[in-house]
Amino acid sequence: ALQDSTTFVLFGATGDLSRRKLLPGLFHLFDTHLLADLRVIGTSLEDLTRDEFVAWAKDAVTEFGKHPTDTKVWNAFAKRLYYVPGSAGPAALRNVVTEAEQDMAPPIQRLHYLSVPPKAALDVIQTLEAADLVKDSRVIMEKPFGTDLASAVKLNGAVHAVFDEEQVYRIDHFLGKEAALNILAFRFANGLFEPIWHRNFIDHVQIDVPEVLGLEGRAAFYEGTGSYRDMVVTHLFQVLAFTAMEPPTSLDPASITEEKNKVFRSMLPIEPTDVVRGQYQGYRDEKGVSLESETETFVALKCRIDNWRWAGVPFYLRTGKKLAEGQRIISIAFKEPPKSMFPAGSGVGQQGPDHLTFDLADEARVSLSFYGKHPGPGFRLDKVSMQFAVQDTDWAGAVLEAYERLIYDAVRGDHTLFTTADGIERLWEISQPLLDNPPPVRPYAPGSWGPNQIHQLVAPNAWRLPF
Ligand code: BG6
Repeated sequence: ALQDSTTFVLFGATGDLSRRKLLPGLFHLFDTHLLADLRVIGTSLEDLTRDEFVAWAKDAVTEFGKHPTDTKVWNAFAKRLYYVPGSAGPAALRNVVTEAEQDMAPPIQRLHYLSVPPKAALDVIQTLEAADLVKDSRVIMEKPFGTDLASAVKLNGAVHAVFDEEQVYRIDHFLGKEAALNILAFRFANGLFEPIWHRNFIDHVQIDVPEVLGLEGRAAFYEGTGSYRDMVVTHLFQVLAFTAMEPPTSLDPASITEEKNKVFRSMLPIEPTDVVRGQYQGYRDEKGVSLESETETFVALKCRIDNWRWAGVPFYLRTGKKLAEGQRIISIAFKEPPKSMFPAGSGVGQQGPDHLTFDLADEARVSLSFYGKHPGPGFRLDKVSMQFAVQDTDWAGAVLEAYERLIYDAVRGDHTLFTTADGIERLWEISQPLLDNPPPVRPYAPGSWGPNQIHQLVAPNAWRLPF
């Protein structure tokens, strides 16, 4: 098969993402024979030998891999790992790639994965050019794609000076999560949901991604980023597009991208008055954080999509660090029935509206909650739910982690779940009023749900979480 010969050049190979997701993911793809003839060339600022890198990768896979590592499989994988320190320069990189590829059957799919901070991405692009590793190669880029409109335009320009857009895969791992893909399945594979998927039946939408985690040693990155750039302008807006887009004409990348970009074009600029920024108490005492830091570790906002389908339907987004619970939900709140025949006190309406919820947790789940009747006499109503939980089905073993799925798609040359330069630039454009004029950061207690102002933001509605 085409995808059999794959070279994966991993920039930032000793970084956090590589350790938690990329190396364990590559191992899993190898182990399950999705990527059988694979070479991985690690490179980073660290001066490791090949053996040291192999040992480091083994620890990563053991700690974060899905399956216990079988020695035989591990040894076969380890033979396919190479390392070259960044300091060795482009020619050395080229040599290791040539060495790694020498006994592979053509055609070889060569992917460069840029798991590096935005500033370093440009250097890597230049290294690839100097190493003559542009032709017949693809490049996978990690967010954030810039930090504002000007830097995103500059970054895209620099990338396009070396690579054609066709060669570029901008990854947003939320789009590889099973539940995110189920938004497309639910909406467009059924006759049931799409007829009610608009302003006449949907009251509002919440995309809520609170995290319990704190900085996890990423202060240097986080200080210059904050939760809006780290999460909203990327992951949350991308899944918002899946939720809000018009039915695409097909599943091909151009159709999906076109519909997503139409959503982004219809989104109104983010007004600072529709945003609550927060910072957890104690953040400024973290190592690597300035005592005067104004970086937000929490953000909640109201977005509006000014088109026929969504006019007047607010989309509430929230995410932050050190919050009460780790959740990743997209919750569609339906309008209440126009009139109720059930008496007051029956329970109807008391637990909020009906919801369809996509839970983007690793254990993906889609659930529909609505009012049902308590058994026995009378009419006492309560919220009940129906759900599709992937892990409870016979399909559980087939689940790919989001990064695995997306890496596999990139190897196959499938752009469908990747983002594009113009889509990203539009998202920075609508973000600019907020970035130019950010409201003050409000303190919140670690373990809470964020600053108190979040309730005003959604009034007269309420946050769906905690369940
Ligand atoms: C990353 C952010 O892109 O996504 C992190 O940089 C965040 O700050 C992470 O924790 C969340 O991803 P997931 O898949 O764990 O929900």
